[in-house]
Amino acid sequence: MDFKNNLKKYQQNINSQLEQYLRKQECPEKLLNNSMEYSLMAGGKRLRPILVIATYELFRKDIEKCFPYAIAIEMVHNFSLIHDDLPGIDNDDFRHGKPTNHKQFNEATAILAGDGLLNNAYIVISEDLKNSKKEDLSRKIQVFNEFSTSVDRMIAGEYVDTEYEGKQIQAEYLDYIHENKTGALLRLCVRMGAILADCSKEDLDKLTIYAEKIGLAFQIKDDILSEEGNEEILGKPVGNDKERQKCTYVSKYGLKEAKSKLEKIIQEAIKQIENYGEKAEFLKGLALYIQNRNK
Ligand code: IPE
Ligand code: IPE
Ligand code: MG
Ligand code: MG
Repeated sequence: MDFKNNLKKYQQNINSQLEQYLRKQECPEKLLNNSMEYSLMAGGKRLRPILVIATYELFRKDIEKCFPYAIAIEMVHNFSLIHDDLPGIDNDDFRHGKPTNHKQFNEATAILAGDGLLNNAYIVISEDLKNSKKEDLSRKIQVFNEFSTSVDRMIAGEYVDTEYEGKQIQAEYLDYIHENKTGALLRLCVRMGAILADCSKEDLDKLTIYAEKIGLAFQIKDDILSEEGNEEILGKPVGNDKERQKCTYVSKYGLKEAKSKLEKIIQEAIKQIENYGEKAEFLKGLALYIQNRNK
């Protein structure tokens, strides 16, 4: 199957898994549930859950075992997007070609929808832990620990990102923002897939480097798209980083250097997984997709 069709298949699978966690019942907080659903089902690329599953698949076929973790990370990711768009952070009005959560509902609802998605992620994981076999528990507890510490890193990165708005930034701080606000969750996804599949330490180390490279690449590309993307395809504003004087790879190094850095680290990422041959074809495709995507 070619990469595009394969990607679509993964996306459809994740969307139907996510559907099962939506709360549809009548209750006093029905609008809050609607707003969580609004963002969760708005049309994200599902890159994070796909990374969990595709990494797991390098080693094992029973992918349904990692679904709860794939779902949980997508919930956390959408929490981060809702809060990232709030007036107090990036103040953006559009995402996925639709009004951002606080524009569609209101600020109070958006804040609580973010909180709700974050906590729902932990509910999904804790349900899985509760129903797990004893022999799987130590690996799953390691995953749980990495999950919570990576979310902590994402929040730290978001904070530093806001603190440096409108200021000159040193290279090491810019890297710190990227590694944390975006890199931490992408690294986590690959590691969760690998640890849940009970791979060897060598495999885990190799895949972690792959993940760190694509994590950095992903945010560099996000910075490039914010400068020269097509707003209609992207579904979110172009030029907003510049407007808010954000510290990005593009603002610090310029478009040309950002693009050559992007290409270089994608090649380095691919090198890390070469030894898996055919089996890692899709992970290789994902790395190239991160480099070439237009949304
Ligand atoms: C956007 O992430 C936010 C960043 C971490 C740069 P994605 O581009 O993966 O978001 P969706 O879910 O596909 O819209
Ligand atoms: C978002 O970073 C990172 C997180 C939400 C953790 P950006 O602010 O650069 O991403 P977009 O461009 O709004 O998607
Ligand atoms: Mg931001
Ligand atoms: Mg933003």
